Amino acid sequence: MANPIKAVIPAAGLGTRFLPATKAMPKEMLPVVDKPAIQYVVEEAVAAGIDDILVIIGRNKNALANHFDRVTELEHTLEQKGDHSKLSRVTATSSLADIHFVRQGDPRGLGHAVLRARKHVGNETFAVMLGDDLIDARDPLLSRMIDVSTQRAATVVALMEVDPSQIHLYGCADVDATDETDVVTIKGLVEKPSAEEAPSNLAIIGRYVLRPEIFDVLETTPPGKGGEIQLTDALEVLAADAEIAGPVLGVVFSGRRYDTGDRLDYLKSSIQLALDREDLGPDLAAWIKEIAPTI
Ligand code: UTP
Repeated sequence: MANPIKAVIPAAGLGTRFLPATKAMPKEMLPVVDKPAIQYVVEEAVAAGIDDILVIIGRNKNALANHFDRVTELEHTLEQKGDHSKLSRVTATSSLADIHFVRQGDPRGLGHAVLRARKHVGNETFAVMLGDDLIDARDPLLSRMIDVSTQRAATVVALMEVDPSQIHLYGCADVDATDETDVVTIKGLVEKPSAEEAPSNLAIIGRYVLRPEIFDVLETTPPGKGGEIQLTDALEVLAADAEIAGPVLGVVFSGRRYDTGDRLDYLKSSIQLALDREDLGPDLAAWIKEIAPTI
């Protein structure tokens, strides 16, 4: 059954780790095998029953908007050539869901980007999905988060165990167990802590199910780490006071996730996802085996 919530995909960051590739193109448009990263995220939202998606775009807005638009010349050429397989790949992109765009203007942080969705989302629970964070389609996470949010009237954040040496790259959660093994209560959050400061090895990954009260909190959230308005700081306010919008819970994810915003993880993601493909996997695997002894 289609779930009526909307999804917001912030894609207005500067993507500085990928310069110069991201000089004229958002990092969410970098191809992973043969699809831009953001298309995997849109497909994940659709698989979770979401059909209304708002993408927050920055200075390189055209590439993103064009990707989800129809390209009639291309469709016409493929149709004339009788290449129906490529044609269906092109048209699938523009008919995935109802996709809207809003500009962030200055990239003042993830919290600021989410605040730009206020008008479109209205007074409803909604999902936030980071456009450079891919969750393997075989390990559904978002539907579980939506269920937990509905059942417990809660804000829900996706968490994943990471090596303590990596926790400084993420928001980190201080948690208590609940009666469900994959659900924890979040007591506090720290944005990008050092290994010594970190209250756990549970990192926030790029999926959130948020209640609309978050918007009021974001309106008054001052710039935090890096001078940016941090979504983690607003969630910390909610976690400290369940009176505002109910509890803040974490769903601990143990499936496959690919961080395409980081160069090494991006390369690994592309290889892993290509290895899993019937059309590319066997040849790629053979080549990797061939070169491996020479590395
Ligand atoms: P990141 O911190 O990973 O993105 O933000 P970044 O700043 O673009 O990356 P680097 O470190 O410079 O390479 C997480 C997500 O939030 C979005 C990004 O597009 C990414 O999906 N974001 C971030 C915004 O939409 N607006 C912002 O102001 C900041």
